[in-house]
Amino acid sequence: MALSTDEIMRLSLDLVDWEETPADSQIYVPGDGIETALVGIDLESPEIQLAAREGYDLALAHHPVGESARLDFTGVLSRQVAFMTAHGVPEAEAESAIENLRENVSLGAHSSNYRHDPSVAELLDQPYMNIHLAPDEIGRRRFVEITDRMDEGASVGEFVEELERIPELGEAATDVEVRVGSEANSLGTVAVHHAAGTNGGADVARAYFENGVDTVLYIHVGASDARELREEYDEKTLVVTGHIASDAIGLNVLIDALEDRGVSCTTISGCSIGRS
Ligand SMILES: [Fe+2]
Ligand SMILES: [Fe+2]
Repeated sequence: MALSTDEIMRLSLDLVDWEETPADSQIYVPGDGIETALVGIDLESPEIQLAAREGYDLALAHHPVGESARLDFTGVLSRQVAFMTAHGVPEAEAESAIENLRENVSLGAHSSNYRHDPSVAELLDQPYMNIHLAPDEIGRRRFVEITDRMDEGASVGEFVEELERIPELGEAATDVEVRVGSEANSLGTVAVHHAAGTNGGADVARAYFENGVDTVLYIHVGASDARELREEYDEKTLVVTGHIASDAIGLNVLIDALEDRGVSCTTISGCSIGRS
């Protein structure tokens, strides 16, 4: 059974029971009759050319590369506020915690060459799309399941051990790392902050810590954000699960669903992590 790019986008939404395509996911060059796909976390101009040369019906990327998925990316950052308020951060404080992030993302998108990769796919007539938030939501739910199973009296080290049992995290060349605090800290209340565009940096972690959250989970964090937080906190904890390994969790579910529907997927750029 061959699928269209629209059907593939729809399939990704069905996996998380969503109706609307998120702002960070887009079909750049539509296609139908798709039976083969080159799937990767980052597929840009060179990989689009690879897909065209090797005759793949679709190049399917995770990270957004241009057009509205890049220009309107701030649309998915509102999830950061929703996650914080769900953990007791007052709304005004949550909004101000993402003010700088919103501006960074918005100004970065405005200055970017949003036409670069999509225009290469158009020239080659290579069907090309990216699916970002839905697979991340699958990963987020996996982390929440593990968090919910943990005893509040557990240590951070025990939490790290449980996370490493996720095949993608266990098999990746990166480890689950404690960037602020230590494995000896008690886990306490945990906020899983993922599937919201990107991590919330120091400001979002601080908003959680100041409102009763003991442990924050990001999939990645910048060095200066980690340093800033380390200077302020030692009994609070920031765990990072690893960017590419964590992205692979949801993508692997999507790839399995595509394979089930007859789309043969070749995985590159991190998507093979944790696939048995
Ligand atoms: Fe992701
Ligand atoms: Fe990512």
